[in-house]
Amino acid sequence: MITAALPYANGPLHIGHIAGAYLPPDIYVRYLRLKGKDVVFVCGSDEHGAAITLRAQKEGTTPQKIVDEYHAINEKGFKDFGIEFDIYHRTSSELHHKTASDFFKKLHDNDVLTQNETEQFYDEENKQFLADRYITGECPHCHYDSAYGDQCEKCGTSLSPKDLINPKSSLSGLTPIRKKTTHWYIPLNKYEDWLKEWILDGHKNDWKPNVYGQCKSWIVDQGLQPRAVTRDLAWGIPVPLEGAEGKVLYVWLDAPIGYISATKALTEKWKDYWQDEESKLVHFIGKDNIVFHCIIFPIMLKAHGEYILPDNVPSNEFMNLEGEKISTSRNWAIWLHEYLAENPGKEDVLRYVLCANAPESKDSEFTWKDYQARNNNELVAILGNFVNRSLVLTSKYFENTVPKLGPLNEFDKQTLVDLQSYPDKIGTSIEKYKFREALSELMNLARLGNKYLADSEPWKEIKDNPEHVATVLNISLQISSALAILMEPFLPFTSKKLKTILKIKDTNWESAKNDHILSAGNQLEKSELLFSKIEDGFVQEQVEKLKKSMTQSQVSENGQAKSHINFEDFSKLDIRIGTILAAERVPKTDKLLKLQVDTGKETRTIVSGIAEYYEPESIIGQQVSVLTNLEPRKIKGIESEGMILMAENESGELAFVSPEKEIEKGSVVR
Ligand code: MF3
Ligand code: ZN
Repeated sequence: MITAALPYANGPLHIGHIAGAYLPPDIYVRYLRLKGKDVVFVCGSDEHGAAITLRAQKEGTTPQKIVDEYHAINEKGFKDFGIEFDIYHRTSSELHHKTASDFFKKLHDNDVLTQNETEQFYDEENKQFLADRYITGECPHCHYDSAYGDQCEKCGTSLSPKDLINPKSSLSGLTPIRKKTTHWYIPLNKYEDWLKEWILDGHKNDWKPNVYGQCKSWIVDQGLQPRAVTRDLAWGIPVPLEGAEGKVLYVWLDAPIGYISATKALTEKWKDYWQDEESKLVHFIGKDNIVFHCIIFPIMLKAHGEYILPDNVPSNEFMNLEGEKISTSRNWAIWLHEYLAENPGKEDVLRYVLCANAPESKDSEFTWKDYQARNNNELVAILGNFVNRSLVLTSKYFENTVPKLGPLNEFDKQTLVDLQSYPDKIGTSIEKYKFREALSELMNLARLGNKYLADSEPWKEIKDNPEHVATVLNISLQISSALAILMEPFLPFTSKKLKTILKIKDTNWESAKNDHILSAGNQLEKSELLFSKIEDGFVQEQVEKLKKSMTQSQVSENGQAKSHINFEDFSKLDIRIGTILAAERVPKTDKLLKLQVDTGKETRTIVSGIAEYYEPESIIGQQVSVLTNLEPRKIKGIESEGMILMAENESGELAFVSPEKEIEKGSVVR
């Protein structure tokens, strides 16, 4: 029973999500399937919680519209990227509402929950209680200034709104008041001894150190407290108890139950996967989800009484991008759906790079330069090169049929022995959730093939010993077939291509060891290159695109990046209408024009980055808006005394911000 964290349906997926919680389980599941295991792999949209409602409010639409939109985008993104869930379910579905509701009732009936009246933060302007993401403030641990009421995303600590320093409502920005309300709690503290035994003693050696370390810090260092599992909100699963009108289940209570609902929706035999001790449950997540999957959800499962517990929770750290943290609000991200649309046929290149560089034990970093290097130096030069040489030589010397294996020399024998060891080597790493290691072993098999071909030199032997060349190419094709099978978890699109060329069908993991998978005399399909080189220009384009989209988002209307200013802030700007009197290019630059602008009382020299869009002669006489009290600055040795305001669209096209009719120079813009 394999689960991947249910992404919030409040935005698209980026490469950090994929590298963290989706590509690893896909590799794992594809491997288990090739091993003939009975596997169910579920995921779906997490559609409740403040992440959704806040976005809906911001965009002036309904939560349902938001989740419908992003559920479709994300489902398609996963599919096009070859992440093969058995089902991509939704927590807004009726089946899930019922499953979560029944689960909660069972906890209530088992006397697990306690009911408590407490004072909670309340936004008087919006007449709403503030929990979780509705409230932000300074993290008491790492002092990050935008921690949420339930968690600090910077240091990962699980919080309660009253822990925040300087709490503010996310709705109004105001300091909230306190107001009484009643909620149900799960007493996590009562499970401390059990958690110590189950995790700290029981999973010391098989859980990853980053996961184990976080658990230890919560259980031992911080200690657990009762946690509210209901909320005063309108969007969510209604609390199925009397006297709970207007209350819904806490999103982190309902969401993980979504794994169970998804399995129910998939198969009638769902209990075989969730309630049978023979089943093995594994949760793949990112590090910000550890507390929920290692502590809260297992307590819920245990308290419910009928479920098995996770065998492992292989959580990844974060992936950074070009030297900075990936940020949705600043649009510093590579979005999956955009990558797929812009790079058809390059799904496996990204899968390769994200796996080779996965943040398995510490944060890692994606750069386009590294993407190019891994593609050119590894996929093209090692894997693609070996397979291509084997196929081309077979076509050249043997009319594209598999040649016969003849008498073997020592090197041939040793190569076949080495080949046999790879399925187990790669498999062992995958079973330990070491996907980077597994992938590098796969590449070592391609290296083995390259070395075998290079040292055997069939191109020299073909004249005098064609029989041995047949053997060399037979072995090379066997290695290529093993690669086709063993690469499937990592590079499923390429695997399919290569299997088609080699006409391999019905494979399983062990068949990579089988020397009869290709029969001598078999005609092969015409070969094609598996990978192609990526040029420097592509890298530059991608980096520029990234930078541009970030700038765009910071000035975009609904961009969260710019915070409110007051009128006083605005009136600090001295913006005036001026007329361009003269313009010339700044020597040795492509972008800069040196302008003389008459702003009424005086004529100023202004250097402006518009030369790619305007010929100097064409803008003489143009009325423009000028920020006149910008600190003077030397640009290319010229003192620039102000800034011309420009409008810029998404593709970077520029337009002057000019008065709608002629108006006196020096007129104030306000
Ligand atoms: N939506 C959460 C996130 O993106 C993950 C939910 S995982 C589940 O961080 F287990 F709760 F479903
Ligand atoms: Zn923090």
